[in-house]
Amino acid sequence: MKQLLRLKVNGEDYEVYAEPWQTLLDVLREIALTGTKWGCDTGSCGACTVLIDGKAVQSCLVLATQAVDRDIVTIEGLSKNGPHPVQKAFMEYFAIQCGYCTPGMILAAKALLDENPDPTEEEVKVGLAGNLCRCTGYVKVVEAVLAAARALKGEGRDD
Ligand code: FES
Ligand code: FES
Repeated sequence: MKQLLRLKVNGEDYEVYAEPWQTLLDVLREIALTGTKWGCDTGSCGACTVLIDGKAVQSCLVLATQAVDRDIVTIEGLSKNGPHPVQKAFMEYFAIQCGYCTPGMILAAKALLDENPDPTEEEVKVGLAGNLCRCTGYVKVVEAVLAAARALKGEGRDD
């Protein structure tokens, strides 16, 4: 039986009805936040990554009921005041092809840079290991995240 849930997403309050078995991913897509992608349902691809209380989390592995009273950020929330530096870097470094993995990849990168503002290339690879991409070969993605780290520190491009 559906329950009324109150969720805070991108700073907005939402009231949604959800079955106890529905995931946060299901509910986000039902409230038209379709930037969060569905790829597997098994926690394997990272396409559904969102931020919960600042941490990158696979929303297909979280029940909607577990997300009540948490601070949820989706890709739509990241660009409220214009593109985030990670988003800009993904565009500038051509780290996007089909784009299906991109929202999750960008949110995972944001969480990584929030925790470690000056990551090595290896740390970026490890930090994004849960986010699969079938198109880019990851090289441009890693370059973009390192560029975003520099931009967030106020440094310009060095290439
Ligand atoms: S849809 Fe959640 S990890 Fe693939
Ligand atoms: S850009 Fe296509 S899956 Fe990553």
